[in-house]
Amino acid sequence: MLRITVNGRTHETEADPAMPLLYFLRGELELNGAKYGCGVGQCGSCAVLVEGRRVFSCLLPIAAIAGRNVTTLEGLGTAEAPGRVQAAFLEEQAAQCGYCIPGMIVAVEALLRADPAPGETAIREALEPHLCRCGTHERILRAARRAAGRPERTAALEETP
Ligand code: FES
Ligand code: FES
Repeated sequence: MLRITVNGRTHETEADPAMPLLYFLRGELELNGAKYGCGVGQCGSCAVLVEGRRVFSCLLPIAAIAGRNVTTLEGLGTAEAPGRVQAAFLEEQAAQCGYCIPGMIVAVEALLRADPAPGETAIREALEPHLCRCGTHERILRAARRAAGRPERTAALEETP
């Protein structure tokens, strides 16, 4: 029996301890924010927070998170009351198909928890492990800057010839 805490709720499970956290979240808890992209730690669409730090949930067996706090996209806000990063992504309309966006939002949230005032390099490094097949990167960067309280940085970059 494992006890797993997700978004503040503790669940007891008899699931295989080797089950990837991503499968547990989606299959057992019906939390579908984290997405299956590659399954091998190469795309970032499955990212969640564990104790406030980004992890790729496709790689992590549930045995590794017993007794630790997991936060998924669903734990960061709701449609009615989006969290700060979600609100920034909405404001910048930073999505096309949207498949990568949960992971991007989790990445920015983890960054801001570690560094409330990140510079451009830190923002880009935080997003670097996340792939977007739609090519939405510029809008995602704008959203990340907005969430970090630096929307003016976008304007400055866009004015640079
Ligand atoms: S599905 Fe986890 S990194 Fe791609
Ligand atoms: S918006 Fe489609 S993969 Fe990023």
